[in-house]
Amino acid sequence: MTATTERPVDQPGFEQLAKRVDDAVAALAGLDPAARAVAEELKSAIEEIHRAGLVTIVRRMREDPAARDALFDMVDDPTVHLLLSLHGIVRPDPVTHANQVLTSVRPQLHSHGGDVSLVRVEDGTAFVRLEGACNGCSMSSVTLRNLVEEALVQQVPAISAVQVLPNEPTPTLIPVESLRIGRDPASEGWVRVGAATELPLDELTPLSLTTASGRAVEAIVVNAGNRLSAYRNECAHEALPLDNAVLDLSNNTLTCPWHGFCFDATSGECLSAPGAQLEQLPLRVDDGVVWVRVEL
Ligand code: FES
Repeated sequence: MTATTERPVDQPGFEQLAKRVDDAVAALAGLDPAARAVAEELKSAIEEIHRAGLVTIVRRMREDPAARDALFDMVDDPTVHLLLSLHGIVRPDPVTHANQVLTSVRPQLHSHGGDVSLVRVEDGTAFVRLEGACNGCSMSSVTLRNLVEEALVQQVPAISAVQVLPNEPTPTLIPVESLRIGRDPASEGWVRVGAATELPLDELTPLSLTTASGRAVEAIVVNAGNRLSAYRNECAHEALPLDNAVLDLSNNTLTCPWHGFCFDATSGECLSAPGAQLEQLPLRVDDGVVWVRVEL
């Protein structure tokens, strides 16, 4: 730990100091115009003195090799950094600045069930991950994405573009036990779908599967680049059928046609609402024949 991160216990912390300034600035708005003008002039005059003194201190320390390291150490302290950036002596680094901007838009995202996290800033591009309602394909998610992009590009001079990184899906683990086919697969809940070659490549196929006990189960099989996944044909949102869902191979998503919820095509994880999930059905291919287990 450097000396700059240590402070006496009786010294107010960064949040307290910042809040005191925020409260005082907010209180200015309640003054009558003449009093406000005087208060603002006083604030401005004091800031000018501070700025002039700080510029001198920083310049001297920069010029002195023995003091330069201590200066760079101090600039890492949040209170010192804030003070110097308020006076335009240092620029907030793009990551700090971007996070500050994202903090300001986060309440709006939260009120719509979404969120954003900054992954990195590189060559003027902010790489972000969107969560919850920000991450769907619906109009509202596009609006939330635009809000994030505009805020970053307009408020952080070092950022000129925003790139949304795909979320990392959590693979659905199907118990090995449920994949085993015994001598009589039908008695174990497996239903023969047909030859794997009959499932169109890069499409989804709705199927009505009938169990040995005569129960019909509606399912879909997704063939994304010859990777097969089966799901119960019910959206995780309102259980409406996914027959006309859109399979987008560029980002491996399946989008429900009803309200735009997006799912990872391979795992069924919902990318629009954390925690939601398509019900995945065990699928296996034996001698070129596809089987789906609809009863466990
Ligand atoms: S049923 Fe609403 S998004 Fe699928």
